Amino acid sequence: MHSVCRYIKVGSGEFGDVLYGRLISTGQLIAIKALKKGKTDKYALIQEAFMFQLANETAYVPRYQGLAPIKLLGEKYLEWGLICEFVGEANIPQPYDFRLTLKAAQKEMCTIELALQWIFTCARIVHAVKEFHKMGMLINDIKADNILLKPLGNGYHPIFIDFGLASIGEGITLALEVTDSNRAKILKEYSHIAPEVLFGGETNVNSDIFSLGKALSLVSDAFPIAAFKAIVSRCTLWNVSERPSIDELLDGFQWVADSIVQR
Ligand SMILES: Nc1ncnc2c1ncn2[C@@H]1O[C@H](COP(=O)(O)OP(=O)(O)O)[C@@H](O)[C@H]1O
Ligand SMILES: [Mg+2]
Repeated sequence: MHSVCRYIKVGSGEFGDVLYGRLISTGQLIAIKALKKGKTDKYALIQEAFMFQLANETAYVPRYQGLAPIKLLGEKYLEWGLICEFVGEANIPQPYDFRLTLKAAQKEMCTIELALQWIFTCARIVHAVKEFHKMGMLINDIKADNILLKPLGNGYHPIFIDFGLASIGEGITLALEVTDSNRAKILKEYSHIAPEVLFGGETNVNSDIFSLGKALSLVSDAFPIAAFKAIVSRCTLWNVSERPSIDELLDGFQWVADSIVQR
């Protein structure tokens, strides 16, 4: 069983907080996902833990350490929390945030090397989703907030951190009541979710592609190379059959990278 000493809140989402701590037994740095009572329940925690453990077969997830009692953290959380590797700058501590990393890159002088580095980072993100889909797993909630970018060589290695809505084998529906009066608000608030899912359909590979395209568009807006923007924007077409497959995206990025190098 894990005992945790010293913890600091490093992130929060809709259902809980993520705390940073150190295991007393080994001194190892960890993230504790603590879900809030009332917002969710133990079944959701077990479901997420199960998905997290499965996704650990890939190299795109923080190392999963199990569930541990976290009563010490206070009454507002469920009694157990999900423990995994902390993916971030340990001294501060700060997660390797997607948006902040991209913002810092935009402050640098835009060189071919920098653009290539980000196109390859996008390719790695797509490759991660390919691996999850190969396992029969849908993420169902792909967005920049749920992807950390760990520095690796000249670029970044994506780490997916949120499996709260992930499913195996079949899609899920979001229980959203869409009416004429809340339609605009929902489209804005859940802008990363494919429209066919917002309007009651089941998630599937194509709805993950939609969300992926939304996240990647942050990068293609920062490096507005025409062919790069074009392939990324196809992911978010409302017509599902016009969205590219994962392999088309990967080929497209390779083509864009090759054409920049040959310029
Ligand atoms: N393993 C981790 N290492 C570092 N930071 C993390 C880790 N997991 C989550 N975070 C931080 O906490 C935030 C919320 O985590 P997330 O799992 O997405 O919670 P929620 O399901 O509530 O959205 C993330 O956006 C990230 O900044
Ligand atoms: Mg999240």
